[in-house]
Amino acid sequence: MSSQTRLTPGEAGGGVLRRYADVLPLTDATPAITLGEGDTPLVRSVRLEKDTGCGALYFKLESCNPSGSFKDRGMVVAVAKAMERGDKAVLCASTGNTSASAAAYAARCGLQAYVIVPHGRIAAGKLAQAVAHGACIVAIEGGFDDALRLAREVTDRHPIALVNSVNPHRIEGQKTASFEIVESLEDAPDVLCLPVGNAGNITAYWRGFVECYQRELATHKPVMWGFQAAGAAPIVGGAPVADPQTVATAIRIGNPASWTGATMARDESGGEVLAVTDEQILDAYRRLAQEEGIFCEPASAAGVAGLLQQANGGAELAGKTVVCVITGSGLKDPERAMEEFALELEPVAAELPAVEQEMGLA
Ligand code: F0G
Repeated sequence: MSSQTRLTPGEAGGGVLRRYADVLPLTDATPAITLGEGDTPLVRSVRLEKDTGCGALYFKLESCNPSGSFKDRGMVVAVAKAMERGDKAVLCASTGNTSASAAAYAARCGLQAYVIVPHGRIAAGKLAQAVAHGACIVAIEGGFDDALRLAREVTDRHPIALVNSVNPHRIEGQKTASFEIVESLEDAPDVLCLPVGNAGNITAYWRGFVECYQRELATHKPVMWGFQAAGAAPIVGGAPVADPQTVATAIRIGNPASWTGATMARDESGGEVLAVTDEQILDAYRRLAQEEGIFCEPASAAGVAGLLQQANGGAELAGKTVVCVITGSGLKDPERAMEEFALELEPVAAELPAVEQEMGLA
């Protein structure tokens, strides 16, 4: 790999627009907004690496972005381009994270955010974020796919920017995660594992890796392994799912907008899009928390659940460098954590003997 062609990392916290200006569709009129997105940690596994038999296993902690998910990378570009066009408002449909991110950047930039969400199917932390940032929230009696259809209809009729990943600027921003992984590893990984919902992210990562290869920042491209929840696996089944079901609410999507992008990433990389059950997702969620110290939301654990499934199924991983994308923070969905880890607190007296007894030290 030629060192001259490597991107020069910007100052820490400088944000995606500044750091990746030369690979993004920016002009002199694009405002240089940032909330400090990007530049997320790539941490090596301490336990699952051995269990999966990978040569090296890393987690890309996209949960460390300012609003707690990978969405910020794409949202910063989409909002900057909306401002460049003179838009005063943004709208998205969301299972939660996109709305949290859109609301944060809109608040920062003085735009009105509108979000359409499936009523009762979005994690409490995500809704709290959209509320806190002052978004106008419309909860519909329907799922994400209905919400996205309505968001497209509203933005066709009103001068409001649609900031779902059907907006090409979102994909452009999200591809920067691939550049970061390549910079950290000084080459592309052999395998990239990630959850798939609306399929924007797998599309974006693949584009990023292709561009890294074309720019000779990487000597090869990774195999892409995308994972859908078994009850919401339209790409795996080859047909839309009318009533998708999964504990991983972020990826409860029956008709992904970037379906073609996902199948292209799969086929061009020689990869797979496969299903993992809710049980496998929650098992990976627990293992990440308790064996790796990584608290993610259930959807984020789907990529790791998929890797574990592949390893158990005999996939050849020896000597391979594998990256799993941790797409969102566990703090987004505290109710799931309380349920999963069955926490019932019984207060004890505020005295040393009682505390020692409770700790099993008496
Ligand atoms: N992981 C998390 C935490 C997500 O929030 C999403 C998508 C995905 C994975 C899947 O990514 O859609 O690009 O395939 N969340 C969207 C939202 C749909 O509205 O926040 P994708």
